[in-house]
Amino acid sequence: MAIIGKDRADITEEDVEFLRANYTSAGGLIPNAYSGGAFFTPTHVARFIVEALRGLSGGSFAEGARFLEPSCGSGVFLEHLPEDGEVTALELDETSAKVASLLYPAANVILGDAFLHDRRDYYEYVIGNPPYGVPIDIAADELPDGFATLTTAKGRAKGKSESAFIELAIKATKPGGYIAFVLPKGIGYNSQAAKVRDLIRETCWHVASVELPGTTFAHVGTTISTDIHILRKVTPNARKVYVKYGQRGNGRFPVDIVEQMDESAADTVWYEGQPPVFHVAITDIGYDKDGKSTDKYGDGLTQLDEILEAFTDTLVRENCDPIAPVNGASHALNVKVPPHEDWRVKAGLYAYWNVLTLGRGEEINGESSFDFDWQDLIVTQYNEGRR
Ligand SMILES: C[S@@+](CC[C@H](N)C(=O)[O-])C[C@H]1O[C@@H](n2cnc3c(N)ncnc32)[C@H](O)[C@@H]1O
Repeated sequence: MAIIGKDRADITEEDVEFLRANYTSAGGLIPNAYSGGAFFTPTHVARFIVEALRGLSGGSFAEGARFLEPSCGSGVFLEHLPEDGEVTALELDETSAKVASLLYPAANVILGDAFLHDRRDYYEYVIGNPPYGVPIDIAADELPDGFATLTTAKGRAKGKSESAFIELAIKATKPGGYIAFVLPKGIGYNSQAAKVRDLIRETCWHVASVELPGTTFAHVGTTISTDIHILRKVTPNARKVYVKYGQRGNGRFPVDIVEQMDESAADTVWYEGQPPVFHVAITDIGYDKDGKSTDKYGDGLTQLDEILEAFTDTLVRENCDPIAPVNGASHALNVKVPPHEDWRVKAGLYAYWNVLTLGRGEEINGESSFDFDWQDLIVTQYNEGRR
């Protein structure tokens, strides 16, 4: 705090290094002390997210690519972004915003409430770990536009932080751009998050879900279960694909796909270009609940490093398994539970997105559903004004 209190001109290199190594905000220092949900992400998890996006972008970020971190804390995600990127970071807490601006002087760190940020359809990448379970309560007339995840009464817009931050990310992302957030597992199935799941399904392709173990945030004093979700904002030229559920063998639930149908008669609807979602559960984050290293080989690599290569175009497809659900409902993010209420009970599972996606290589409109190229093609055609 003494360093943060200094004038900028008096802050030395050593001060900056000290902050980088030690600043944790109150989250982790005093359990539950801070209502802003300030639990910072381990740096290798932030690095994984940035590198996965690099892989999905064909191996490199375009020069000048625009990044937004809407609740940056001390800026752990900024550390991994390319030097030639245009980086905007928002943070409500004055101390954390100052630390982030000292550690990452090239980033545009804006102190203030993320919900006042009014850039829309602008960023190629929105990344971060937003606050969870923090009540949003903001003057509705200060918001730049309406939020489906906030309910307005008596001039105040209220809701839960994680859902509202996802909506903010979707608004801020350019069509065809990516959103990658660490989120509480409940986003996949909680009834409170139903609105934001609908919103995701209506506006995004769901690319990947990576389950993180409860030990991930042990260093900051919480064992919350989280998932990394990677979404891609759909371009307006993408056509909808209407889906009817069917039962085929072994109680699995692949789908019948119809190109045109009355939307209300479909069990779910998604966009052409939606591949089976990459889903993986990380069981070892690199340390145990007491912070002791679990690195058996001494190579510093964790399971996150091992799966990174799956985020290149070809391997994503090879690794997707649309008919082998794994326990845990988190990757059901995009799934609309079908109108038949007993469906979930019959299946004995939540409605797994992987089971419900297009199957192995089924074709729609002459394009293979098991192919990220199709999504890229739709985005390229949109950007070039071809359809
Ligand atoms: C879970 S922490 C994560 C910080 C950082 N993204 C990371 O992963 O290390 C959430 C951060 O959101 C900030 N925050 C909470 N409400 C906010 C708001 N309305 N606008 C901007 N930042 C906010 C908190 O101060 C905190 O630093």
